[in-house]
Amino acid sequence: MTSSPMLTKEDIGHKLAAVYAPIASELAESERIFAGELKSRFPFVQDLVGHCAAFQGKRLRPALVLLTAQACGGIRPAHPVLAAVVEMIHTATLVHDDILDEAIVRRHAATVNAEWGNETAVLMGDYLFTHAFHLAASLETTLACRWIGRATNLVCEGEMQQVHNRGNVDLDEAAYFDIIRGKTAELTAVSARLGAQYAGADAATVDAMDQYGRNLGVAFQIADDVLDIWGDERTTGKSLGTDLEKQKLTLPLIRLLSTSPAPLAARLCRMINEPTEETRGELRPYLESSGALEYAWDRAKAFASLAGKALDILPDTAAKGLLRNLTQYVVRRSA
Ligand code: IPE
Ligand code: IPE
Ligand code: MG
Ligand code: MG
Repeated sequence: MTSSPMLTKEDIGHKLAAVYAPIASELAESERIFAGELKSRFPFVQDLVGHCAAFQGKRLRPALVLLTAQACGGIRPAHPVLAAVVEMIHTATLVHDDILDEAIVRRHAATVNAEWGNETAVLMGDYLFTHAFHLAASLETTLACRWIGRATNLVCEGEMQQVHNRGNVDLDEAAYFDIIRGKTAELTAVSARLGAQYAGADAATVDAMDQYGRNLGVAFQIADDVLDIWGDERTTGKSLGTDLEKQKLTLPLIRLLSTSPAPLAARLCRMINEPTEETRGELRPYLESSGALEYAWDRAKAFASLAGKALDILPDTAAKGLLRNLTQYVVRRSA
């Protein structure tokens, strides 16, 4: 089975609650900002924004803004606003991603596309994206807008590259990492970078926090891709198996194909290119016995360890310890 111990749902809750405890009031403030900002005079639109504010996820990106701020000089008034902004961008990307993946469950609730249809979900994602920049523009300088604009652009590029490569069994590791660096690591990187910058950190520290968030994001996405094949929907609270359904080649599959003898690789490619309800279960034994699953975890752990190294520049504080805990959490999570 998996070579990395999976935490239970309760473990995850406790683990994150412990990591978030020192930033609990600022995190709550960012949630108030998030919900308070998204108000519409139209009951239909209000229903939608209420849905997106009510069903919370792990809040990793806002926590990154706040914890890096705390580790780099202290939380200032701009930080809860920035935390709300990055969570709004993240939520927008999920609303759109669920259309692309035809996912029906997100954060233990119906996806916007499943409940209200694709057209409404496209517009809801746009509503969240545009509001995030409206809110970021309330800060004293345009720096956050520029940085978040660039990062969001690269997230979209990553998603576009992924759509473009559906069904491409020749996708190699380099191309896979390029995709996940864009679609996932850009936003975790900019979250950590913003936390440091707005705490008044020097340029070297800001860069180190960017590296921390970037490597953490890559490890986080590899784990997500593993969970798409081995995870439990009741624990993750989202539709799983959509990578296979949509013929998205992720690290375990790429590794399996590149290490299998040609006749087996050809058979596996046919399975990948003609997915059925059974494909997920049929591929698992190959992925496990070939060592491809273990390889994916090892790569995730290597990125998590690089994230940990980037923290060396910081003075020893409780917040630094919590950022380090997150590097362990991302490669042990089950949700
Ligand atoms: C889901 O992100 C999308 C990925 C980058 C894998 P999260 O797993 O952080 O989603 P929530 O915010 O907890 O729902
Ligand atoms: C992450 O990819 C999507 C974004 C970064 C927007 P996934 O498609 O794997 O995310 P989940 O699994 O649906 O949360
Ligand atoms: Mg998805
Ligand atoms: Mg996924």
